[in-house]
Amino acid sequence: MNIAIIGATGNVGRKILEVIERKIFFINELFLVASPKSAGQKINFNGREYEVYNLETYDFSKAEITFFAAGGKISEKYAEKAAKHTTIIDNSSFFRMDEDVPLIVPQVNPEAINILKKNIIANPNCSTAQLVIVLKPLHDEFNIRRVVISTYQSVSGGGKASMDELIEQTKLSLDKKKINSKNFTKQIAFNAIPHIDVFADDGYTKEELKMINETKKILDNKIELTATCVRIPVLVSHAESVNIEFEKNFSLEKIRSLLNCADGCEVLDKREDGGYITPLEAEGKNETYISRIREDKTKKNTLNLWIVSDNLLRGAALNAVEIAELLIKKNNE
Ligand SMILES: NC(=O)c1ccc[n+]([C@@H]2O[C@H](COP(=O)([O-])OP(=O)(O)OC[C@H]3O[C@@H](n4cnc5c(N)ncnc54)[C@H](OP(=O)(O)O)[C@@H]3O)[C@@H](O)[C@H]2O)c1
Repeated sequence: MNIAIIGATGNVGRKILEVIERKIFFINELFLVASPKSAGQKINFNGREYEVYNLETYDFSKAEITFFAAGGKISEKYAEKAAKHTTIIDNSSFFRMDEDVPLIVPQVNPEAINILKKNIIANPNCSTAQLVIVLKPLHDEFNIRRVVISTYQSVSGGGKASMDELIEQTKLSLDKKKINSKNFTKQIAFNAIPHIDVFADDGYTKEELKMINETKKILDNKIELTATCVRIPVLVSHAESVNIEFEKNFSLEKIRSLLNCADGCEVLDKREDGGYITPLEAEGKNETYISRIREDKTKKNTLNLWIVSDNLLRGAALNAVEIAELLIKKNNE
């Protein structure tokens, strides 16, 4: 199997490499591709140095599977043409809501891979991926009616430059120097910004709409959702406070056991100091963690949860590689 990564020098591209390196994933040739500025750079993978190719001159017929992790504009410009020669797994939002493109979290809707009309598979938004992996086992058992989400999202969701800027702003702020925000709409150091991606006419941000629409596409169009997405000064992992209303009644014991058994989920919920997960602890882990499981006593059949996951892994690289594994399995059947 020959594999290519477009955007191999970025946050998600580098994580895809790490995930592939950790898995027993048979790779014949690997092609690492980025912008002209990175062409010629060397990247180490499995003890061998690989040269970074320039996307402008890269030949897409070299690999059977190509991961796109270079932003929506690059996916828009190159993916459909490239898909004539290679199967695309796209991390950007560009194709996610395209009816002919499956949007997949392998633990939730693996069957969607059977509608591969354009030879492109979309990877969901990072906040969506960790949400649906938790909602799926609960929906199967109790039928979800409505979900209210508030996110606490790390800056790595905005790419490598945003991580560098948080570190820089933190230093400047401690030194009491002037801060000019470049990748954020306001200062992010020691702050929280209730605005991720652009505003739509109805006042929601595109990040919030992505969570709502993608969850419906992956899980069930009938579920009603509303979201508020907030950027916080954390480097990696997104946290979500989630309120879920079910059609059927539930017991907390059953919720815990369903989530503990669900593939990709782990319950960490002790009602004591430190008996819950935080973004720092989820960094580098494959699991999506669930804490603070409790009834919402103001509404019938309603539950509160705290969900935390490494956005670069479950929300991007790990999910993308698991889609590739699903594809390989399907092709070998
Ligand atoms: N970060 C997350 O949590 C997350 C989660 C899900 C999905 N995604 C999506 O994944 C994609 C990548 O995000 P990221 O966080 O990895 O961004 P990033 O750290 O900014 O990396 C961007 C990558 O794209 C490459 N690139 C930029 N312009 C290019 C061009 N004109 N031609 C070729 N390559 C170009 C960059 O190469 P150079 O180094 O050469 O500039 C770099 O490798 C985005 O679509 C993002 O929405 C991100």
